[in-house]
Amino acid sequence: MNLIFLGPPGAGKGTAAARVAEEFGMPHISTGDLFRAAIKNETELGLQVKAITEKGDLVPDSLTIELVNDRLKDGDAANGFILDGFPRTIPQAEALETASKITRVLNFKLDDEEIIERLSGRRVCRSCGKGYHVHFMPPKKPGICDVCGGELYTRKDDSIESIKNRLSVYAEQTEPLIEFYRSRDLLSDVDAKPSAERVFDSLKAMLEAL
Ligand code: AP5
Ligand code: MG
Repeated sequence: MNLIFLGPPGAGKGTAAARVAEEFGMPHISTGDLFRAAIKNETELGLQVKAITEKGDLVPDSLTIELVNDRLKDGDAANGFILDGFPRTIPQAEALETASKITRVLNFKLDDEEIIERLSGRRVCRSCGKGYHVHFMPPKKPGICDVCGGELYTRKDDSIESIKNRLSVYAEQTEPLIEFYRSRDLLSDVDAKPSAERVFDSLKAMLEAL
């Protein structure tokens, strides 16, 4: 299965992708995570994308497409993958079409009010990357990762200013992908509003029926 998780910021794509990847034994490829790792490691790519990602703008297509094409060449992606946060523009989707055959696109749907609540309460582990929410998915000890004991932090782009920018960038540049994939008969809508457990159960059922 070659899957795309599409949807607005904070809809729960990363949370669901981590669970589905574990359940079905396939790599979870998040372009946001790849950019954050490059920033943390202060690579050339990291230096190029730091300011762009913190503001919530999109990284240029050329850089993003190259990053994903390289990642998809890794052996673990040969028998299936989950792309989380890619493609996000029509040129990215067109480039992907020439590189891979997509099985299904899961379109996460959530309203803006809920998105803002999810993003403003998000915390992420600095060491292992696991995501939490101060109300919806709190860690056992505040500020500490349950899995590895790492420190939890708030992403720079989870400021209210960046969240608003990300929502308008999504509406302008990414939402057109819904029609792009619907017209190819590849799209399935996912109600992202229920609990993470219920969203996972419905995704699992959808994927087992493919
Ligand atoms: P990226 O990291 O992909 O950010 P995003 O798309 O804005 O998505 P998020 O990671 O914020 O949300 P999510 O849907 O994964 O939600 P999560 O599961 O964490 O990209 C970051 C930046 O990188 C971009 O702005 C851009 O600059 C750049 N970039 C990345 N890809 C690019 C591309 N293709 N082209 C160009 N630039 C690119 O959940 C959110 C919160 O809600 C968490 O706290 C979680 O615990 C909680 N939660 C999750 N599910 C539930 C639930 N069901 N109920 C209650 N709470 C829940
Ligand atoms: Mg994410």
